[in-house]
Amino acid sequence: MAKTIITEPSRTLMEYRLLPALTTPESMHGSISLATAIAGDRKGGHLRLNVPVLSAAMQSVSGTRMAIELARLGGAAVIFASQTVADQATMVRAVKSYRAGFVHPRTISPDLPIAEVVKLTDTLGYSTFPVVDESRKLLGLLTRNDFDPVRHAGKRADERMVPRAKLTVGVSIRDLAKAYELLTESHQPVLPIVDEQDGLVSMVFRKDIRDHLDNPDQLLDAKNRFVVFAAINTHDYQERATALVEAEVDALVVDSSDGHSTFQGDALVWLKERFPQVPVIAGNVITGDGFRFLAQRGADAVKVGMGGGSICITQEQKGTGRGLATAVLDVVRARDAYFKETGTYIPVIADGGIETARDITIALAMGADACMMGRYFARMEESPTEKVVVNNRVMKPYWGEGSSRARTWREQRYSQSKFVEGVEGLVEYAGKLKDNLDETFAKIRASMSSCGAPTVRAFQETAVLELVSALSIREGQVHDIYMPPADGSYTDRGWGG
Ligand code: IMP
Repeated sequence: MAKTIITEPSRTLMEYRLLPALTTPESMHGSISLATAIAGDRKGGHLRLNVPVLSAAMQSVSGTRMAIELARLGGAAVIFASQTVADQATMVRAVKSYRAGFVHPRTISPDLPIAEVVKLTDTLGYSTFPVVDESRKLLGLLTRNDFDPVRHAGKRADERMVPRAKLTVGVSIRDLAKAYELLTESHQPVLPIVDEQDGLVSMVFRKDIRDHLDNPDQLLDAKNRFVVFAAINTHDYQERATALVEAEVDALVVDSSDGHSTFQGDALVWLKERFPQVPVIAGNVITGDGFRFLAQRGADAVKVGMGGGSICITQEQKGTGRGLATAVLDVVRARDAYFKETGTYIPVIADGGIETARDITIALAMGADACMMGRYFARMEESPTEKVVVNNRVMKPYWGEGSSRARTWREQRYSQSKFVEGVEGLVEYAGKLKDNLDETFAKIRASMSSCGAPTVRAFQETAVLELVSALSIREGQVHDIYMPPADGSYTDRGWGG
């Protein structure tokens, strides 16, 4: 007989509802912060997200474009590991080198002939160059407006540049809003940022800054570049993690369908010893024991979920798995106990089967700090796949990392299996990420507001959840009315009206 038989069924997020509490001015929609801890406080403070979502480490979800757009909106993507180490590191570098307001352009020396500057413009595709001496001290700025490519071809850069004395610069500025203020005052198209010794640090372009101000939640690292995470597996993790850390990834995510294993434990110990400064998100687990195992081996955050993913057939194939709500609650209990014992807070990330704002809200209320989603992001313009039209509907392909399509790369996440654990299918195209996330976050804020919670932490501590009956779920859906067809053939004057 089995050691234990739990007779209480495991539950999904869908089976819970929130009870409202007093809404106050502090918990009105506009004052709510969705910022959340994503990796613990083992080494000098938390790594945070400005919004509580991560895109899944999957070929059909998290490429460079998704990573840039999601960081712009405050979350982070986990670049998939089912590709060569070199390709994955290149993706991380591409995100890191994307302009996030503060730009590090090519500098030129004062004696460079204008003819060479023209060549540089042709190859690089831009035409604004800071002129610096050997110690990177700013001497001036040269733009396309400062010379005639033919007449001044033989002149030196410093003969045509706008000299430092005539330039407005920002000294040691890290805040883009402050840079924008100075830029507006200066009437220049670009603002050089220098240190106290006049050494060039970066440049801020007028056209980039608007983009930043339109997206105040942008998730930036200490050098003002977009934050990006990357997945590793328990096979080639030493080589992969080394390359990813060299590419300056912000966190490593061990991608495994069952993280409660000595392989992952050993990998964690190695990673924390080799790269103590890089947060490692471990998982997946679905029990308190699994959580404790990873926490004790140095995990900075733990991912929870098995068998609930939209493309996942693990439960059918292996009989292992658990409803996400029960798994999250079990792990959160273990996390809170671990925090009491050790003083170390380890964020929990709910993963698999999270479809809507409602699911995210319930997971947060249960104590999760963030949610990882695959299907949600696969539907977006920014996912790496091409749109296809099927029966007049615009769709995008979506496949599991354990599906035969992903496994043809190399057996990794599901390497010990002689069978597939995921499927390949299509999801309905949903348009731009920003539009979708704006709506999703508006709904989450509305729930938190109803519950009187101005922050994710307050929400976790004060939320009241109730299990609902199947009939009560039915009552909460549209019922007992006829729905007009979505083809527009019905107006308020009748069908075809
Ligand atoms: P979704 O958000 O419901 O689409 O689930 C995405 C999650 O499913 C990922 O973050 C992984 O944890 C998990 N997953 C990805 N690929 C597979 C697979 O092939 N089989 C089972 N689970 C998978």
